[in-house]
Amino acid sequence: MYSTAFCKVYNQFGWNYFPEAFGEQLLTWLRQNQVTVRKSLDLACGTGVLCELLAGEGIEASGMDFSEGMIQIAMERNPKLHYEVADMITYRPKEQFDLVTCTGDALNHIMRLEDIDRIFANVYAYLAEGGYFIFDILNEKEVPMAEPIDLDFSETVKAQFMVTHDADGRINLQTTVYENGEKQFEENIKEIVHDEKAVCELLQKNGFRVEKCANHFLENEGNYSKTWYIIARK
Ligand SMILES: C[S@@+](CC[C@H](N)C(=O)[O-])C[C@H]1O[C@@H](n2cnc3c(N)ncnc32)[C@H](O)[C@@H]1O
Repeated sequence: MYSTAFCKVYNQFGWNYFPEAFGEQLLTWLRQNQVTVRKSLDLACGTGVLCELLAGEGIEASGMDFSEGMIQIAMERNPKLHYEVADMITYRPKEQFDLVTCTGDALNHIMRLEDIDRIFANVYAYLAEGGYFIFDILNEKEVPMAEPIDLDFSETVKAQFMVTHDADGRINLQTTVYENGEKQFEENIKEIVHDEKAVCELLQKNGFRVEKCANHFLENEGNYSKTWYIIARK
């Protein structure tokens, strides 16, 4: 779970760029494939940027996340949308959705493949027949050890980001925030890289048809990235 202080850094730092960019691609994909979505759910929705974009298209968009700070920001950004604080491993709403998304490396926060399996079983239960489950996962070969990145928020507040690898193969994103040179807090976010083939097998085991598993989302756009995109259908 992200601390509320870190959620504010996330919002201010501009990581909202990722869901904005993906959201534009998703809208293009929906148009290109003539997919009509009435009701959508974004798992691990963060600050709610993707939900807002979908709602802007007339979709009844909702989101959930287990970091209260993220949901607080999402609700402040758009009080009209429905958001919930919950853990996607156990989350199983009663209603059905014709689009379920989970992006921004959110599934890389789930350490155990058994838990990914539980998420897929749950999504299958609340996805409408013919509905799409679209998500991304990090591509292992593209996660470099990074030099610290320094960022100035204001005259007095500065943040430093650093990506390291633990001995057990996990990725650690360390964020340290300083005010007037004094350390205010440090957040360590752990992620793990899952093999995309193992992930696709789990989808199939849970009844999904895998329509796409590739390191780009749209065709012919040259947008090859550090991320795998998976389109699964019920
Ligand atoms: C890198 S952020 C991405 C947020 C958003 N999807 C985006 O693209 O901006 C990962 C999010 O996953 C959420 N998360 C991680 N594990 C979760 C879980 N088990 N259930 C629900 N949310 C989770 C975190 O709270 C965080 O908001």
